[in-house]
Amino acid sequence: MPVDHDAVLSWYAAVRRDLPWRRTRDPYRILVSEVMLQQTQVARVVPYYEAFLERFPDELALGDAPTADVLRLWSGLGYNRRALALQACARAVARDGWPADAEGLRALPGIGPYTAAAVASFAFGEHVAAVDTNVRRVIERVDREHRTTAPLFARAAALLPAGRAADWNQAMMELGATICTARSPSCDDCPVATCRSRGLPLPVAPSSSPRHSRPAPRFEETDRFVRGRIVAALAADEELPTGIGEDRVERALAGLERDGLVVREGAAVRLP
Ligand code: ADE
Repeated sequence: MPVDHDAVLSWYAAVRRDLPWRRTRDPYRILVSEVMLQQTQVARVVPYYEAFLERFPDELALGDAPTADVLRLWSGLGYNRRALALQACARAVARDGWPADAEGLRALPGIGPYTAAAVASFAFGEHVAAVDTNVRRVIERVDREHRTTAPLFARAAALLPAGRAADWNQAMMELGATICTARSPSCDDCPVATCRSRGLPLPVAPSSSPRHSRPAPRFEETDRFVRGRIVAALAADEELPTGIGEDRVERALAGLERDGLVVREGAAVRLP
């Protein structure tokens, strides 16, 4: 089913949220935003994004900074390994220059196909589709078809309008974030008139079948929680968290050390 590009692009022009990374074509600023937006909501990212760029305005500043300073500015966002990978990217780019395209970006530390395509289209205007879980859901609903990765990417590429990849990718993300949401799509407000799922009940997701699902542990019970508490404490020059259980703290510290997020010298623990 064809999709009316002009309808989607005019809808996006009319409703687009004025987000700070939509006001720049600087690949560094766009890369910082896309890495922060992995696994983190837009509203939480905005203040971290602004503070981070104020302290590290370009790849040279980020590459030269002590990693402990980078983690101090990042730590409340969580998934702190992203900050290490981002600093490694900054160092590579400061040394070798920016890659020319999405394929080159893919070779940078921690950059997957989605982030490479997002940066290449937004910063370089490359004709490449950025497919994250939101965009995947939009395409699956529009076609009412599940695809494996390669056919999905081929379909996403075929949908790109000539010369408009950057706005198209932003528009698809905006659709997924605001209209074509996972749980309650607002089909009445959607610009895709030809969508095959318009107004239809959502298919039952296979993962929601009770036979296969196990309740997720509470966040406070996870390793990720303990790791986050430790990095936040070190970033604030505080003592390691107490009341969590020594074995849990020890296990989290071992993982953090393995990932390069903390350095241990005897009994002392510090940020790298
Ligand atoms: N999520 C990931 N990338 C985004 C972007 N550029 N704008 C809004 N949400 C996003």
